[in-house]
Amino acid sequence: MRIDVSASILAADFGKLAEAVQLCERAGVGRIHVDVMDGHFVPTITIGPLVVQAVRACTKLPIAAHLMIENPWDHIDAFADAGADIIGVHAECYGARRLACREHGQYPKEVDAIDPHKARADIRRIRDKGKQVCFTVNPGTPVQCLDPILGDLDAVLVMSVNPGFSGQKFMPVAVPKIAWLRSIGFKKDVAIDGGVNAQTAPAVVQAGANVLVTASYFFSSKDPAGDIKALKALGEGL
Ligand code: DX5
Ligand code: ZN
Repeated sequence: MRIDVSASILAADFGKLAEAVQLCERAGVGRIHVDVMDGHFVPTITIGPLVVQAVRACTKLPIAAHLMIENPWDHIDAFADAGADIIGVHAECYGARRLACREHGQYPKEVDAIDPHKARADIRRIRDKGKQVCFTVNPGTPVQCLDPILGDLDAVLVMSVNPGFSGQKFMPVAVPKIAWLRSIGFKKDVAIDGGVNAQTAPAVVQAGANVLVTASYFFSSKDPAGDIKALKALGEGL
């Protein structure tokens, strides 16, 4: 199985963004992951389309915009126009939130089911822009909620931390979700995001993940090319 590593610039030095992207290219990273946070869907605020545009200007690598924002439909066009190739939205924006996370400031956001019509409207919106569609599930949201729309997706991103920060500990609840996607015959990209490193990656690759997102592990590495090579090698023989 071919493993692709997607480096999240969240852990990069923003004063030297172009250098960070060049480091990704040199090290064998296959995609750039941009963590967009709005201070509502998650407690923190990070970056928006302008940064996607800046990254676009310095690389040909595919860019994935991971939208951890409320009302993603309002911003899909802006991220597409800024140059993102893959637009990732959260399942939790398309269904009734669990009671414990309905109010502003209650995290993490979780749902048990999504409204497939609402989801399909955004799938169409993303496709109309010629971009790849990724749906994401938080650790507490069952991946089965995506069942009605799986056939319409290019990728599923399984969160292995509650979104909001890099540098958190990997949550093993993500592993059976990946295995379930493969067990029902989902053949598109299955990405994992949060706490990925040399210790946690083998189990997710064994379960069937083919895209590994990493922020802190990659950007704090003393041997970025060696570490990327080792992550990719996990797919050999699978
Ligand atoms: C979490 C973000 C992740 C995060 C990963 O909200 O979506 O992409 O930056 O960071 P690490 O790899 O440090 O867990
Ligand atoms: Zn992310």
